[in-house]
Amino acid sequence: VVVSILLVSLTFGSLIDEIKERGVLRVGQDAGYMPLYGTDMYGNRIGLEVDVLKIMATLLGVRLEFVVVNWDGIIPALLSEKFDIIWSGMTITDERAKKVDFSEPYLKIGQVLVYNNRKISSVPSLEELNNPSVRIAVQLGTTGDEAARRLFPRAKILTFDSMDEAAFQVASGRADFTVVDSIYAQYVAKKYDRLSVADGFLTSEELGVAIRKNDPETLNWINNFIEGLKSSGFMELLEEKWFVE
Ligand code: ARG
Repeated sequence: VVVSILLVSLTFGSLIDEIKERGVLRVGQDAGYMPLYGTDMYGNRIGLEVDVLKIMATLLGVRLEFVVVNWDGIIPALLSEKFDIIWSGMTITDERAKKVDFSEPYLKIGQVLVYNNRKISSVPSLEELNNPSVRIAVQLGTTGDEAARRLFPRAKILTFDSMDEAAFQVASGRADFTVVDSIYAQYVAKKYDRLSVADGFLTSEELGVAIRKNDPETLNWINNFIEGLKSSGFMELLEEKWFVE
């Protein structure tokens, strides 16, 4: 009896149970971050993480719902329960881990420089980039934003709500560079042939799922799920499907 009371009280209040009961898994994402997620011409959400989330919802036997917010406000929105999880290309950082719990990593990335190859023929040294005449467009509140400010404190940093806007600044010649996740950089350089990705990672980062703190059962469920995606080879298949070379 004691054991079952303990078990009941331990599992009570777990997010996973709540999601099953509600019949909906609500995921917080921003407008777009291909190839992890975005919208197709019919308005459907697509991308590697969308595929993963569809499997997660199927396993839980629930519907999948996306709640779209600005990247800059995504952690506050999670904390105020606007949705259940952030599975949205979020880098695991110590700063964020003060507010949320992170799963085990499911992808490794790095920040890279993307430039307009019609305007720049060879990429300047990092030292030369740290200059007030250099304009760097970034997505507000990203690790690219942080890396740009840390590495190029003298450059002019322009912030935008979405990665697509930041990249478009470079494609249209209004900014010289953007500092973005490598996965996104490959995608956007394919989208605009005037954009190129500079060699070399400026940082090395891992992406994880974020949930509200104090929910070991849910964290455990998500970690097991991620482990299964990796060990089954399914994650690799999804990378082949979505990542551009
Ligand atoms: N990985 C970077 C970060 O955590 C960029 C994420 C941007 N994600 C997005 N959905 N726009 O800050």
